[in-house]
Amino acid sequence: MTAPTGDVVERAAAGFTDQYDARPTGLWAAPGRVNLIGEHTDYNDGFVLPFALPMRTVVAADRRDDEHWTVWSELSGETITFATDDVAEPGRVTGWGAYVAGVVWALRDAGHAVPGARLAIASDVPLGAGLSSSAALESAVLAALLDLGGLELPAEGQPRLAQRAENVYVGAPTGIMDQSAVIRCRAGHALFLDCRDESVEHIPFDPDAAGLTVLVIDSHAPHRHADGEYAARRRSCEAAAKALGVPALRDVTVDELDAALARLDDAETRRRVRHVVTEDQRVLDTVALLRADRVRDIGPLLTASHVSMRDDFEITVPEIDTAVEAALSAGALGARMTGGGFGGCVLALVETDGVEAVADAVRTAYADRNYTAPTATPVLPSPGATRLR
Ligand code: GLA
Repeated sequence: MTAPTGDVVERAAAGFTDQYDARPTGLWAAPGRVNLIGEHTDYNDGFVLPFALPMRTVVAADRRDDEHWTVWSELSGETITFATDDVAEPGRVTGWGAYVAGVVWALRDAGHAVPGARLAIASDVPLGAGLSSSAALESAVLAALLDLGGLELPAEGQPRLAQRAENVYVGAPTGIMDQSAVIRCRAGHALFLDCRDESVEHIPFDPDAAGLTVLVIDSHAPHRHADGEYAARRRSCEAAAKALGVPALRDVTVDELDAALARLDDAETRRRVRHVVTEDQRVLDTVALLRADRVRDIGPLLTASHVSMRDDFEITVPEIDTAVEAALSAGALGARMTGGGFGGCVLALVETDGVEAVADAVRTAYADRNYTAPTATPVLPSPGATRLR
């Protein structure tokens, strides 16, 4: 299928009119996200530092008088309809519709009177690239349904609800980072989130002003066993916390790390723990540097995060490591995989006048290895979910 052209907002609005022969009551958008640093720390009650992308998912919608939800997706070209029976319990709607039905289910499960609705969805967030297309979809649908129904749910409570849609209805055991980023991020800032109490601080992050560019390099590598491996990493972290007698790995500091590792007999578990504990510290160090307006200096932390994911958490793949190495050898200040792993994207912090050199180096390294050609896109920290009109 060829990529749709034209503005995503207009595509959603026009799709609504084509499908339903009516004008939507409103349009709502939610972005994808990239995580600057802090990977696989969210479900360990730790720290993350994502920012929202300019690419977004847009929902055009109106209310229906009955309790049915009709949803058209530009991407699949399909229209699906589900009713209250389908959201009485998790899992009854499958495929992409599960992310929409999951939000209806989670709202109803939390006691909200969700209005029936007609929705049309278009998106610029690449699928399966580790940029949270699923959180963008859930969060845009959630924003639309809250507004259409006049339902009260403060922004701080929305990520948990969208996460329940994904964890319980869809059945993916992900943490709280993606939905928090998509809903709570602000333009020009990274979101410093404490995943234990969900407190946030908006950290100014303006690479452009420092003459820098964040490049998001999509490896186009197929996700290999991503779901099973993600769940396995999560289980091993939880088992390690239990063995160490702490509520979560967040409760082990870098100063306590050696002593903690000495209490674990399994080498693989020790590597997993070392990643999570050092990664939490790298988030804190990155935040401290950004607060001190030392954006350039975060480069080595990004690269150290990558090495930790590659060697200790073992969630990278050759295409991803190749992109990181090529970017660094062409002068990137730092580079790392972003997202859950086993494919997806790399982010590189690059001097703006060196962007082409870095993008070329990655393309050449891919061509030399016969990998599918990567894409490199400069991105700026963008706004979180919002009503457009
Ligand atoms: C995926 C999950 C997040 C987080 C990241 C890894 O994006 O959805 O909750 O665990 O992986 O940092």
